[in-house]
Amino acid sequence: MSLRVQAPCKINLILNILGRRPDGYHELETVIYPVALFDELQIEIAEHGIGFSCDNPGLPQGPSNLVVRAAQAFFDRTGIKAGVHIQLRKQIPIGAGLGGGSSDAAHTLLGLNKLFGKPLSAESLTELGASIGSDVPFFLGCRPALATGRGEQIKPLKPFNILEGLWLLLVYPGFGVSTAWAYRALQRYPAVLNGTAGRAEELIDLLYAGDLIAAMDHLYNSLEAPVLAKFPILRLYKEFLRAEGAMGTMMSGSGAAVFAFINDPDSAEQIRKQFVKKFGTTPWTYTVQARLPKTGHSGLHA
Ligand code: C5P
Repeated sequence: MSLRVQAPCKINLILNILGRRPDGYHELETVIYPVALFDELQIEIAEHGIGFSCDNPGLPQGPSNLVVRAAQAFFDRTGIKAGVHIQLRKQIPIGAGLGGGSSDAAHTLLGLNKLFGKPLSAESLTELGASIGSDVPFFLGCRPALATGRGEQIKPLKPFNILEGLWLLLVYPGFGVSTAWAYRALQRYPAVLNGTAGRAEELIDLLYAGDLIAAMDHLYNSLEAPVLAKFPILRLYKEFLRAEGAMGTMMSGSGAAVFAFINDPDSAEQIRKQFVKKFGTTPWTYTVQARLPKTGHSGLHA
């Protein structure tokens, strides 16, 4: 028996860090928005063991891979005595802040749970997901969400109609940023490290009120402080995208991907071409409608 699963990516419309916690993680509030750019997982039941292969040699293929960790956690938790082979086709850039690894892990859990007759409840999947990574619970639902805690406490949000007709241009410089490093480096920016709660709710209110201009001005990411200081090329990307007519632009997660909201598909493609002319073909670029992705399976909150 086998299953093909599509794992979308995400952007953070706002990522507001509220301080360092005693456990070393950071308290935050973030509005996470799913985006229709997908990795693909082919999950096949086998007799025993966890087999894994991936078309991108940049990812670990062994037990540290998030897909393998998710599969291991599933079998450990359920006690099911079986094996699986999982093939991963990567499209989402790695170390981009687009949540590719977390989405792959979440969709491994969802896929295995479906293949084995749903032994785990939504609560168990969420708990298991959170033990693998802070972003994994978000991808179990794949709806716009307000995430709090260390990012694992998810409140699903109704769609933002005002964003659905817009287009996104995603750009990625070709190198990744370590999330752990970005959070550590944030210690050098105490005012940013200890942000004030409430910005996320303000953005949500602006989006529901249909105030697009104010909402675009309200995009924010605390991790830009350390990451843009270390990689000023990302600041140049943002300035260029704004100058070319993007409505709003921000780094996603801990980077290095930057996203830009653009009015319509023609302008998005035009700005993408100008971007390539300016920065060359090394950066990865991708245009996609900011419409909520259909993943072809039922997530937790579907
Ligand atoms: O949870 P996840 O494994 O994705 O996090 C990667 C790293 O990012 C953590 O080990 C931690 O250093 C940092 N992090 C943090 N606070 C968060 C989320 C992540 O410090 N809320």
